[in-house]
Amino acid sequence: MNAAVLLERVSAGYGKTTVLDQLDVIIAEHSFVIVTGSNGSGKSTLLKVICGVLAIHDGEARVLDISLTNPNGRRSVRRNIGYVSQIQHEPKIALTVIESVLLGRWGSSFSWLKRSNEQDMEKAEDALRLTGALDLASRDIRSLSGGQRQKVTLARALARSPSLLLMDEPTTYLDPEAKSDFMHLIRRLHESLQFTAIIVTHEPIERKRSDRLFSMRQGKLFELTGEQRSHLWDR
Ligand SMILES: Nc1ncnc2c1ncn2[C@@H]1O[C@H](COP(=O)(O)OP(=O)(O)OP(=O)(O)O)[C@@H](O)[C@H]1O
Ligand SMILES: [Mg+2]
Repeated sequence: MNAAVLLERVSAGYGKTTVLDQLDVIIAEHSFVIVTGSNGSGKSTLLKVICGVLAIHDGEARVLDISLTNPNGRRSVRRNIGYVSQIQHEPKIALTVIESVLLGRWGSSFSWLKRSNEQDMEKAEDALRLTGALDLASRDIRSLSGGQRQKVTLARALARSPSLLLMDEPTTYLDPEAKSDFMHLIRRLHESLQFTAIIVTHEPIERKRSDRLFSMRQGKLFELTGEQRSHLWDR
């Protein structure tokens, strides 16, 4: 088995506060993983560690076979994965949808937009097509509805053809039908593109469909299997 994510006795947090506490987890390539758990339990912190945004305090961490213990490794991971954070900032400047997806090719440097070539444009359009949002390409990103914006955000993460996609509560602001549609879209894309997906969500419907389901409690991950999973579904 090739591991997309391997964390061994990982501790991490903010300043002197420890949030992840000696956490262990191995996630195989191509799996579809759901992480759930109460507010403040450390789910977003876990994703920030995996995507290389937050340095670890202790332990061993490898993502896509790259060590997260040094800044170069973390930078490399940040460039190679798709990450949709829990809090989406409103863009401060007018940006079309296609420009916003092009930014996903490399990072958030606006100067890079001027340097994008034909292949970047093709990749950005492909990503919008995959999420069903190509018709929005020339719209100002700030004029979109919440559901449309989520599709564009997903396209931005897909624009670099990531082998690992991390999404932190991607359906929070959507209505029940849009929530379900969006999660089905992610599932379909996972099946066709074969990336590894780690999704933080509280949506009960999706819990049934994950390959693996984890609950975060006090900075540790607990895997729910068999009986525990069926109890959750019944709630
Ligand atoms: N930037 C930060 N600086 C200091 N403490 C933080 C920071 N971000 C999060 N924390 C703290 O770390 C703990 C875990 O936060 P985290 O955001 O990982 O939780 P979560 O499980 O994602 O919660 P939620 O379901 O509310 O999104 C919380 O106690 C939180 O207050
Ligand atoms: Mg969170």
